[in-house]
Amino acid sequence: MKEINYILEKEKEILLHTYNRIPLEISHGEGVYLVSKDGRKYLDFFSGLAVNALGYGNEKIINAIEEQIKKIIHLSNYYINQPQLELAERLIKYSGLSRVFYTNSGTEAVETSLKLVRKAFGPDKKIITFSNAFHGRTYGSLSLSGKEKYKKHFTPLLANILNLEFNNTEQIEKNLDDNTAAVYIEFIQGEGGIRIVSKQFIEKLEELRKKYGFVLVADEVQSGIGRTGKPFAYNHFNIEPDLVITAKAIGGGLPLGALITNKKYSEVFQAGDHGSTFGGNPVACAAGLAVIKEIFRTDLMNNVEKLSNYFISKLKQLSVKFPDKIKEVRGIGFMIGIELNFPCNKIVDDFRKNGILVNCTSENVVRILPPLISTKENIDQFLTAFDNLLKQ
Ligand SMILES: Cc1ncc(COP(=O)(O)O)c(C=O)c1O
Repeated sequence: MKEINYILEKEKEILLHTYNRIPLEISHGEGVYLVSKDGRKYLDFFSGLAVNALGYGNEKIINAIEEQIKKIIHLSNYYINQPQLELAERLIKYSGLSRVFYTNSGTEAVETSLKLVRKAFGPDKKIITFSNAFHGRTYGSLSLSGKEKYKKHFTPLLANILNLEFNNTEQIEKNLDDNTAAVYIEFIQGEGGIRIVSKQFIEKLEELRKKYGFVLVADEVQSGIGRTGKPFAYNHFNIEPDLVITAKAIGGGLPLGALITNKKYSEVFQAGDHGSTFGGNPVACAAGLAVIKEIFRTDLMNNVEKLSNYFISKLKQLSVKFPDKIKEVRGIGFMIGIELNFPCNKIVDDFRKNGILVNCTSENVVRILPPLISTKENIDQFLTAFDNLLKQ
């Protein structure tokens, strides 16, 4: 305890105060667990914010990284590195799209897409985003945010961005027109509280896209790479976006993101229009390749789907048992939110005291993002702890 207090004080003294740190000193990870310096094991149902899809210490990722590090750690993008190509082939296969640009993070992939949209449509056409949307922290992606609290100190932001209500079909019908360049959407909002887009909304969006020809951009930074039991969350909605943005899980814990375009938008950028020193780093791409090969084993994806059905149905039973405490349970695959009737900070702390790590988002939504390798026993551990906490 003394040591953790010292570290927290030191951190306050020498780092900028942008994070509310959790008072835990982590020593290492093992499978679905994080282990603290004092040897306590924590079931990590947050997965490094949807990054550690295969848990900690995955041999295939470690081997891929080791092998690549011995060959070359960094190679300028003036040269082609083999892992970039192999990973791009897989991303194209699983997205059904056409070409890839690599970045180091989600927000950079969003920035890349914004430049592409502006280049294709010019500066005056509007870009549509939705309430509660989260697309990152840099200026372009922040301009797309549907949360005022993230934007309020940082104006002026990018011009010609219109924020509409998520899942409000009438609003898109009224506001989308010939003057619309792009629509940015998370099919399942993560930071926004695990909110799922409705089928009617997507149908209307598709009808309007056919009519007006805007770019449909799927932000799959959190929901992609198997998190929902399918390669991307849009796969649940019978629609193919023009651009797909992915990051987080794709690098197996190393910084990696990607913008994937369909054929129509694959020629917008020409040499010199965009670039990145580290984007598509060979070690990150080698790790990514190992991640993709492992995640898209059909038995792993089937397992996520099966266990998710079990998990969500049990949570719904708890919501019937504790109607005054649980407002709603939402989710697809291993992207699950429990909306409480009160702020969730305390219950998240209590979970931690019981050896389970989850997150609180949008003030009252417990966000659960288990590693995709989690078992029924792991889920039962969570359910038993939750039941006990709700009784208190
Ligand atoms: C949907 C979505 N888009 C973009 C981002 C930004 O990604 P990064 O933090 O890698 O910049 C996030 C991060 O949480 C996200 O959830």
